[in-house]
Amino acid sequence: MNYINIMKEIKTTRDFKSTTVKREILDKIVNEGKASLTDIELEIVLFEDGKKAKENLQGKAGYFGKFIESPHYIAVIGNGGQKAKEKAAYAIETMRFAAHAENLGTCWITVPDTDEIKNDLSIDISKNLLAFMAVGIRYSGIFKKDIQEKAFRQGATEIAYLDTWGHNPSWEKLEQRGLADIFYFTRFAPSWGNRQPWKFLVANEKVILGVKKDYKEDLELDTGIVKFYFEKSCIDHGINAVDSNETINEDIAAMIGEGYEVRGIYTL
Ligand SMILES: Cc1cc2nc3c(=O)[nH]c(=O)nc-3n(C[C@H](O)[C@H](O)[C@H](O)COP(=O)(O)O)c2cc1C
Repeated sequence: MNYINIMKEIKTTRDFKSTTVKREILDKIVNEGKASLTDIELEIVLFEDGKKAKENLQGKAGYFGKFIESPHYIAVIGNGGQKAKEKAAYAIETMRFAAHAENLGTCWITVPDTDEIKNDLSIDISKNLLAFMAVGIRYSGIFKKDIQEKAFRQGATEIAYLDTWGHNPSWEKLEQRGLADIFYFTRFAPSWGNRQPWKFLVANEKVILGVKKDYKEDLELDTGIVKFYFEKSCIDHGINAVDSNETINEDIAAMIGEGYEVRGIYTL
């Protein structure tokens, strides 16, 4: 898959046709999500008939209870904390990209992880409902056009700091480090409420991801998503960026500004 082209193009769909998508295409999307979950045990659940989910979740899920109507939904469930949520986000974004490649639209939907909702969805109560999305055919006909723009994003030189926290580099400086294009694409990462709660510090041959501490809504999901965009963007530029899972020692933590916490350390 060519990730960076999709990063530029993909946007949220909130208006779906009621026409259903072929099961084999839905299975292909789910299988790509499963393939992204190599190092963690999570399950992907497809709601092929989205009607029941739609009836049950209206008023309970989505921004301010506004549920997005779609013929199909996909959930990621499993046990685990922060890392599980990050990986669930990674899987959802992988499936959104796979759906986009099939010319389908998708929408992340905020769903509370409560017993009531798990009952509504007939999901195992002992598991956590980690992430949820809608998938289907977007409106693009003559009478109803998909006119929604991709939402505003911070620029590459705004999400990156060079050498010290708070120091935004020029495009040329980022280019000299071979990172300008990588951040150009990373910046397209979607987030809850489009808040983009992240900054990358490039220092000492490392790239450190800092995410806002006080930012409660779906922080782990947003973290997983921005990691997906950064890592895949590196891959498309011939760089293998793997989160080193390095212990965050005092020296590293001190490099990050107040109000942010370290969520990834990459050695390039
Ligand atoms: C974790 C998460 C939860 C989201 N929840 C919702 C939601 O409940 N309803 C909705 O309409 N959009 C939801 N979104 C979509 C974001 O609002 C959208 O990705 C962002 O505004 C950027 O817009 P774009 O994808 O069109 O560029 C969510 C996105 C994320 C990452």
